[in-house]
Amino acid sequence: MWEKVQETVNYINEKTNQFTPEYGVILGSGLGSFTDDIEIKYTIPYTEIPNFPVSTVQGHKGALVFGTIGDKKVVAMQGRFHYYEGYDMKQVTFPVRVMKYIGVEKLIVSNASGGVNPNYTVGAVVILHDQVNLLPEHPLRGVNDERFGPRFVNMSEPFSVKMISKAKEIASVLGINVHDGIYLGLQGPTFETLAEYRMVKALGADCVGMSTVPEVIVARHIELETFGISVITDMGDEESIGTITHKEVLEAAQKAEPLVRSLIKTLILEY
Ligand code: HPA
Repeated sequence: MWEKVQETVNYINEKTNQFTPEYGVILGSGLGSFTDDIEIKYTIPYTEIPNFPVSTVQGHKGALVFGTIGDKKVVAMQGRFHYYEGYDMKQVTFPVRVMKYIGVEKLIVSNASGGVNPNYTVGAVVILHDQVNLLPEHPLRGVNDERFGPRFVNMSEPFSVKMISKAKEIASVLGINVHDGIYLGLQGPTFETLAEYRMVKALGADCVGMSTVPEVIVARHIELETFGISVITDMGDEESIGTITHKEVLEAAQKAEPLVRSLIKTLILEY
């Protein structure tokens, strides 16, 4: 894995003339337009990057986008890899490791999720404080390479307390209503049954989705400071569960997109 990561890093560094982004951003469902906020310098399609997972989905678009926001250098993942697509967890999280060795110090992850906290409504913006890993495979399973990080990773602060506090300050200045929440990761690709949404709630989580958790685990392994944000695209309760579709999820995420975009952009500029 170490050699593979370095090979990929060398390829990217050559393509970007050693552009060293400080921020890495993983763009979730319906949040792809964040790249409009970036003064783009280089775009590399995933298909051209050695060792990147090969998409199984036809016409699947995915690229690493390099550029600046103000005086900050960023790389954004336009399109992420999900476990339910058939990748193993090492593949799902490979880009996070690559980001680290092209210079990234802070990782921002976004996603769409289903809400089980009754204080949420569709379109709510949730700043993640913690996560529960219920995915069936662990990204750090297997022999540990100490060059990346320790065998046993401290997960007491999966999401940076300092970044959370800065983001809340920014949200208040910009007049964006934000919630706090705990994200629980399940493999999907089915949306949850009512009984499963109840389980998620009973386990102490506020929202549920099919991504983010493995990327955050690997980010902590390699000591990236991490910030997570989620848009509630549907409510996992008796009244709403009947209507949840992928289309509804994308539409709700797109509605909240301008808010999330300005929050992330300002966080990058000011943190
Ligand atoms: N469940 C799981 N993943 C999701 C959901 C959900 O309700 N909404 C968006 N992603």
